[in-house]
Amino acid sequence: MKITDIHCHLLPGVDDGAKDMDDTKAMLKIAADDGIQRIMFTPHIRRPWLKRPWSKVLEAFEKVKEYAASAHPQLELYLGSEFDYSGTILREEPHQLHDLSGSGMILVEFKPYDKFDRIREGIQQVQMAGYDVMLAHIERYDVMLTDIDLASRIADLGALIQVNADDIVHPGSFKMRGYMKKMIDRHLIDLAGSDAHDVKFRRPELSKAYEIVKKRAGADYADYVFGGCADRIIKRDV
Ligand SMILES: [Fe+2]
Repeated sequence: MKITDIHCHLLPGVDDGAKDMDDTKAMLKIAADDGIQRIMFTPHIRRPWLKRPWSKVLEAFEKVKEYAASAHPQLELYLGSEFDYSGTILREEPHQLHDLSGSGMILVEFKPYDKFDRIREGIQQVQMAGYDVMLAHIERYDVMLTDIDLASRIADLGALIQVNADDIVHPGSFKMRGYMKKMIDRHLIDLAGSDAHDVKFRRPELSKAYEIVKKRAGADYADYVFGGCADRIIKRDV
């Protein structure tokens, strides 16, 4: 098992994450120092970046791989994306979708205020388009915090559930704190990612969250959430 950041915005100049290569270098160092061994870059697929040619992302990925090969040779780097769900894009511009490193799995996000039915239907639409789904940061959708059983319903759809590590370490409210504890206790989380955007407020770190999950639910489950489940995706064995 390798500690894996399955969701982050570290590629330079392709979305609202790392601004330039200096930013990327600083963030890679934070990740490596934190013990992260594998990173899936997940640039946003949503406005205002829809017109950004994917070739620009590929170019940035190659540049970062080249740098990391000498600066952090132990780091494994992969490319995916984070799809802000849009039925229109799915129907009319399916070429905009990019899975997690050829796994056939798409990281899908919704709006914080979206209702459960929209999230469920969105997941099913992406599945019907032929992909597996990983739901990004489930704890960020207001409706999910109202009823823990909604997470089970997402799992029943066959989607994997990702949470942001920072919401485990620093839950923004008592409600969020309680929700994250229940999600851990019921083993409803499949993966944790940093969703890092910068070096200051949303950093690429997972180690503190790993320790919390390990203490609460045991090492086997923590290993699954922080690397084991990602192993299966990367090896296309989901
Ligand atoms: Fe994200």
